[in-house]
Amino acid sequence: MTTVLQISDTHLVPEGRFVSGQLDPALAFQRLVVRIEGMREQLGPIDAILHTGDLSDDGSAESYSNLKEILAPLELPVFAVPGNHDSRENMRAAFAPQGYLPSSGKLRWQKSFEAFDLIGLDTLVEGVGGGLLDEDDLSFLDTRLVEAGNKPILLAMHHPPFACGIPFMDKIGLDGIEGLAHLLQGCSNEIRVVCGHIHNTMITTVGGKVALSGPSPCSAFSYDTSPDAFEGFLVREDGFLLHRWDGCFSSVRIDSRPDSLRLPF
Ligand SMILES: [Fe+2]
Repeated sequence: MTTVLQISDTHLVPEGRFVSGQLDPALAFQRLVVRIEGMREQLGPIDAILHTGDLSDDGSAESYSNLKEILAPLELPVFAVPGNHDSRENMRAAFAPQGYLPSSGKLRWQKSFEAFDLIGLDTLVEGVGGGLLDEDDLSFLDTRLVEAGNKPILLAMHHPPFACGIPFMDKIGLDGIEGLAHLLQGCSNEIRVVCGHIHNTMITTVGGKVALSGPSPCSAFSYDTSPDAFEGFLVREDGFLLHRWDGCFSSVRIDSRPDSLRLPF
């Protein structure tokens, strides 16, 4: 059995700064980490943390240091893909000691666990909100899929490879979905695709494989499909996802709030 805990869109900033002048993402993230720590026995063994992007809000080196410091008490290896708010080079430098990121180019990687391979793709196009999977990314993925043989795959990226229905978020969605769908369609492995970006949990399929997005510890986008949907975020603390392989993939969302009153049946 292998279990990966997915966190997304922490949007950290240097100490003393706030997102949109008001939101302190580090406080919300610290609360989530305390909650995870308190649930360790309940959650069972966890092999790694996967961060699906927007680790930082401003791409600063300090924000990545903050992230590592906040996660340190969990004593788990951390694997991350960049989001549109991240700086590729500052993120590379921050995670260099972990040794899983390439020393140049896109932050694409693969990590083998007992039950499945975890593959991270880099959809970041620096300076814009939308993401891209180009021919080179698909070729990287194709090679990793061939190397994996029949092993199940947990495939991570920041931008969802699907439209979420919120107009202003879909405007900064992912280019290259068709190529990814085509590749996944032709692949017989068990594959689960996980992402972030939309600060909400949404479940759909891409290329016939289940694809789902994880929540953010500090903010959310309202599910508003109207053309004049409010273009901004809600200050809402959400939790995390657990992805487990035990003969098949299962994914569960854990709320950020402490358990409410427990009553016997
Ligand atoms: Fe985000």
